[in-house]
Amino acid sequence: MSGDTSAVCLPDRYTRNVVETRDPHAELVADFRAGMLEAPRSLPPKYFYDDRGSQLFDAICDTPEYYPTRLERELLEANVEAIARRAGAATLVELGSGTSRKTETLLAAMLRAHAAVHYVANDVCEEVLDESAQRLLERFPRLTVDALCGDYTAALAALAAVDREPATPHLYAFLGSSLGNFEDAEAIAVLRAIRSAMHAQDRLLLGLDRVKPVAALERAYNDAAGVTAAFNLNLLAVLNRELGANFDPAQFEHRAPFVSEGSRIEMHLVARAPQVVEVSEPAVTLEIGAGEVIRTEISRKFDDAAIDLLLGGAGLRREQEWSAGESWYSLLLLRPDTD
Ligand SMILES: C[S@@+](CC[C@H](N)C(=O)[O-])C[C@H]1O[C@@H](n2cnc3c(N)ncnc32)[C@H](O)[C@@H]1O
Repeated sequence: MSGDTSAVCLPDRYTRNVVETRDPHAELVADFRAGMLEAPRSLPPKYFYDDRGSQLFDAICDTPEYYPTRLERELLEANVEAIARRAGAATLVELGSGTSRKTETLLAAMLRAHAAVHYVANDVCEEVLDESAQRLLERFPRLTVDALCGDYTAALAALAAVDREPATPHLYAFLGSSLGNFEDAEAIAVLRAIRSAMHAQDRLLLGLDRVKPVAALERAYNDAAGVTAAFNLNLLAVLNRELGANFDPAQFEHRAPFVSEGSRIEMHLVARAPQVVEVSEPAVTLEIGAGEVIRTEISRKFDDAAIDLLLGGAGLRREQEWSAGESWYSLLLLRPDTD
């Protein structure tokens, strides 16, 4: 793990640590090989998030159709004192923190209860980590921030190296229903990794999107201004830049249907016409048929049974749950199952 804060001017209350255990470029090449060489083609969603992808995701959160951010923010604002009190933590560890905009509410509440707060923020996008830390440190003089730039699991493995108060209660946060990007086995593995890092007094705040009418779901991922489409298509720019590919984004269309089997929105890039794409690394030629789909993300919508399966598999149990409106979105405060 290396500390690297040279590129930005930030107070000495900030450190950015690169925690990748694998070379990110080699990992992208391997994931491309595994998912893209034959139909059905797919890639993991973490490759959306270069600097532009992170900005586009932030813009998605501001679209009127994208209810998850709005509801999660409302739930946090309404219940933040109870969450902070129950967690009793002066350390917050957040996975996939993005811009940390919602997290700000939580940090403010923790700072009302503690003289100093330590925020460990993890994301794959280093620009978003730097920019968010700068904003948070300007707002909160009693805050220190350690950024762990890399994959969730690499960040959890590296946590001990930046943990300033390991013996005190920690609050972990995994918001934005990012857990919904994983199938059951992977989701349980991520939750288990969090559970392994937790001590008995620690808590995990998990934001999960719920089952709801299909029309609302499809609207949320097909916003009228086309921001989600731009976010989805930006993946092709990432592949062109990182792998020396020549995808033409104009030759693909964004679609985000609800797939009832698996209760999920799937993000697709659909080829408008037959096309040949050359890639430098790995050195391959893709022949993509008209209408062929590249699946770029799954976003699962959970019912109680699906949540219980994941929590049971990971050794976590509910301490408290807050839901918005007609249970469109839930925040769960979880504790390690020690029985
Ligand atoms: C859906 S956004 C959610 C952002 C924020 N937590 C929120 O609730 O608005 C997912 C975030 O996780 C990051 N991310 C995606 N995959 C990741 C991974 N495997 N490891 C670490 N961060 C990841 C992205 O860069 C992005 O900032």
